[in-house]
Amino acid sequence: AAVEQRVSTGSLPGWQDVDALVRDAYERERDDRAGDVARYIPSLATAVPDQFGVAVVDVMGGAHDVGDAWTLFSIQSISKAFVYALVADEVGHDAIGERIGVNNTGLGFNSVMAIELNEGHPMNPMVNAGAIATTALIPGATAEEKWSRLAAALSAFAGRHLAIDEAVYASESQSNDRNRAIARLLLSYGRLDDDPAEAVDLYTRQCSLLVSAHDLAVMGATLADGGVNPVSGEQVVSGQVSRDTLAVLAASGLYEHSGEWLFEIGVPGKSGVSGGLVAIAPGKGAIGTFSPRLDAAGNSVRGQRTAAHLSRVLGLNIF
Ligand code: DON
Repeated sequence: AAVEQRVSTGSLPGWQDVDALVRDAYERERDDRAGDVARYIPSLATAVPDQFGVAVVDVMGGAHDVGDAWTLFSIQSISKAFVYALVADEVGHDAIGERIGVNNTGLGFNSVMAIELNEGHPMNPMVNAGAIATTALIPGATAEEKWSRLAAALSAFAGRHLAIDEAVYASESQSNDRNRAIARLLLSYGRLDDDPAEAVDLYTRQCSLLVSAHDLAVMGATLADGGVNPVSGEQVVSGQVSRDTLAVLAASGLYEHSGEWLFEIGVPGKSGVSGGLVAIAPGKGAIGTFSPRLDAAGNSVRGQRTAAHLSRVLGLNIF
């Protein structure tokens, strides 16, 4: 059915409207069974495919949650956006631009060919190579010190303490030969100062942090709000870093499908293989969704459709 497209304005509609629109978006997609759960990490294959949650959080801290919006799942690649923001806050815009890059590879998220085609340059912090290199830049004398900083930053984005899914962490640690190969390849090109095994371990841990669709919406709304968590009031990263992060997400948040995503939804977003998705409307708020059935690129099918619908009816498209 045709959907009325609102024009982007400075704010979301009134909260009662948003409640009804979020519920309607959820109901439209609830019975969609397209796609399949991720299987290349054994513990993700056990996800309940029909789980579905939608959350919208605005920059005033108002929340609208429907379905499994509070169900926890491992954050996976969505962590890349927030670890990037943490590292950019520490090392600065220029260092990230030079060292990691901000361009789309045009290839899959765990492509080795993308590294080879670019003389070892990881290209951007949203693909595995760039994310592992970004995590390695977190300041700290020991791996545990880096981990504390990382976990504290992602928890500050969510406004609550985030814990690890130990089963996912163990499962991925046993099956991530490809990420270990990517880290060693980066080392061979002089693109990694840290021990590659340590960098991959930290990256695997960050991917195992447990979040809900509601958490993702709060985390996204923090970037939409210039780095201030609208629920806790904490300034988590600077306004400049928030803008930089949204620019990187616009270019590569949905990997090789980032162009289509921007074309259809019109706001920066980030996906993860456990089925999470966040779409961020600068100055307004963010949508968080959870639905584990994925398309071939590893992006949640219902998540993308829900974000597309909500972007239209809430008038989020920035173009
Ligand atoms: O490194 C991996 O393969 C996973 N920990 C994360 C990949 C991911 O979420 C890709 N997203 N669609």
